[in-house]
Amino acid sequence: MIVSMNFKRSLSSIMAMGVLAAPISAEENAIFAIEGDPDYGEYLSSECLTCHTGETDNYAIPPIKDLPTEAFILALVDYRSKLRENPAMQMIASRLGDQEIAALAAYFTAQQTE
Ligand code: HEC
Repeated sequence: MIVSMNFKRSLSSIMAMGVLAAPISAEENAIFAIEGDPDYGEYLSSECLTCHTGETDNYAIPPIKDLPTEAFILALVDYRSKLRENPAMQMIASRLGDQEIAALAAYFTAQQTE
């Protein structure tokens, strides 16, 4: 049961658009409720930008600034809890607390172009 739920979650995170159809945990709701500090997010973002350069022809590393806020947060929570399997992102997310995730989401999603 838990395994199939996890599968559903990671699949919908990957698709990003379907993310709100997946069950949202209390942990995730707590992060949604935090008003992230974009300045702190900018400070934290330098590490992210070494990989997430925004080059859209790099299919191995997805661009992250155009993700919806919820999808951005859910992706990081899913790497942190190892629901999503990417060793680099799992390691990076394991060092992020809820405040850091909220701050990064605030910073990156503030740069969105229409
Ligand atoms: C070592 C390179 C590297 C660094 C540094 C890195 N990422 Fe990633 N990131 C990746 C790769 C590779 C993926 C795709 C992994 C996968 O297939 O699930 C990814 C995926 C993601 C996703 C999911 C994107 C999607 O469309 O589902 C988010 C969000 C993300 N990273 C945020 C961050 C943030 C925030 C930071 C900085 C705290 C960061 N990353 C640092 C390599 C990196």
